[in-house]
Amino acid sequence: MSATDTEKTSDSGILAEAGRRRTFAVISHPDAGKSTLTEALALHASAIKSAGAVHGKAGRRGVTSDWMAMERDRGISITSAALRFDYGDHTLNLLDTPGHADFSEDTYRVLEAVDCAIMLLDSAKGLEPQTLKLFDVCRSRHVPVVTFVNKWDRPGREPLELLDEIEQRIGLRPTPVNWPVGIAGDFRGLIERATGAYTAYTRTPGGAERALEATFTDEEARLKEGDAYEAAEEELDLLAEIGADVDMPSFLAGESSPVLFGAALPNFGVRRLLDAMCALAPAPRARADSAGAERAIDAPFSGLVFKVQANMDKAHRDRVAFLRVCSGRFERGMVLTHAATGKPFATKYAQAMFGQDRETVEVAYPGDVIGLVNAGALRPGDTLYAPGPPVVFPPIPSFAPEHFAVVRCKDAGKSKQFRRGIEQLDTEGVVQVLSSDLRGDQAPVLAAVGPLQFDVVLNRLEHEFGARSELSRLDYELARITDPAGASALAGVRGTEVLTRRLDGALMALFADKWRLNAIKRDNPDIKLEALLAGATI
Ligand code: G4P
Repeated sequence: MSATDTEKTSDSGILAEAGRRRTFAVISHPDAGKSTLTEALALHASAIKSAGAVHGKAGRRGVTSDWMAMERDRGISITSAALRFDYGDHTLNLLDTPGHADFSEDTYRVLEAVDCAIMLLDSAKGLEPQTLKLFDVCRSRHVPVVTFVNKWDRPGREPLELLDEIEQRIGLRPTPVNWPVGIAGDFRGLIERATGAYTAYTRTPGGAERALEATFTDEEARLKEGDAYEAAEEELDLLAEIGADVDMPSFLAGESSPVLFGAALPNFGVRRLLDAMCALAPAPRARADSAGAERAIDAPFSGLVFKVQANMDKAHRDRVAFLRVCSGRFERGMVLTHAATGKPFATKYAQAMFGQDRETVEVAYPGDVIGLVNAGALRPGDTLYAPGPPVVFPPIPSFAPEHFAVVRCKDAGKSKQFRRGIEQLDTEGVVQVLSSDLRGDQAPVLAAVGPLQFDVVLNRLEHEFGARSELSRLDYELARITDPAGASALAGVRGTEVLTRRLDGALMALFADKWRLNAIKRDNPDIKLEALLAGATI
């Protein structure tokens, strides 16, 4: 714990602590290098001794079953990683967005808890499907995005072409902070656009340590890099002509994105990215409550639960709720109020997460993430607040499911346990549960953003509720919200079905594919078919 953590803090102290915080996540497609970058960022911030300590390779590569086994073996899930580390005068909170086989609603919910995101692109691939989905969520939540073009040490695409793709496909105006010298695959260094300073990189074996960096003047750099430097200068002239300069108002409004180039594996340009996050990413700001009133950063403590993880410690069968501090100062032992029930919530067991390790957290400030153990009553979207006038933050939206399956209990004698389990998992937000009179409550439909959510349901139904169950996948890919008129118009139409969402009673129409949906829209232009958040680009 640092000295500042133990001091008594006045309101201006809270503002100063919040001002030092940067809370962000990395959004990317699998294999773009998110785990490598996470390690490199922590390495540069001196938070870990050598890269490779945060995410076990086995976990990153793990197929679903490995993930479950690993969760049991380690007693903690890789998805829970929320790293907090100091860098210069700043405290950085890097939240993990599970993005591999374990892509799920949790991935989206994490974006409720950040103030900024790094959009990580593979220099050879540019924008990929999962990056686009996550970007959609950032855009809808007004989360500003910094772009990092990774793997510049490998053959890839032209930098201008990549910028063009960002602008054309997602309408985000790219504003490069630095510019690579040497084509992808022959990376020499980076020119800082604002100052013209040139940093050359030397590879360290395996990328396990910080890369060697040397700074040169314009003249020296031209001599050293020859044609490659001149080519970069020509491109810089072009950028200057179109005025592609970093612009804070449009960045914060989600209209432009500062772009940095580098390579996470050999640690090229990673320190520069950290500096950019400190300089550009917004510090925690007042958050609007559900009545639309802004909750000031130095108001009494309030926090938002954005994720609940069950069974993280197999010895204790506990449930950890991850809470982002939104206002005030958190002190372990505080008794908070759970806004949803009005009941008190004791915080004796508050923890900070560091990769696989947990440590007790005594104090936290806006932007920090804490894990609350024994959080049986908490669910994603819940608000906790310190004694005083109540505050409730708006609920986290549910995201567009793309995978659907019927779940049935294998043992007829356990139907009560099965029903209780399904209800509990739905309430926790592990999966969305849909039903209809036709299907009955013995065979509800589960709707998920990623198929791993189904495995978690089966695993927990069996081990926690004693109800061994089986799934049969349904041939639907899309969901839209409809109304009773829409439901009657769709009744009996092939390739579609309308179900009721258990948690809020919303009517959800499922469609086999986008062609079926488009055909139905064409034939019934007046029925309500409202897209859900994310995946709503179709
Ligand atoms: P992810 O979490 O986004 O899925 O990506 P991850 O970090 O696991 O990286 C995916 C692959 O890309 C890994 O290689 C990793 O080493 C490589 N990689 C990441 N960043 C860079 C980079 O800047 N330059 C180069 N050249 N490669 C990079 P792999 O072959 O799948 O695994 P490994 O056995 O080499 O580690």
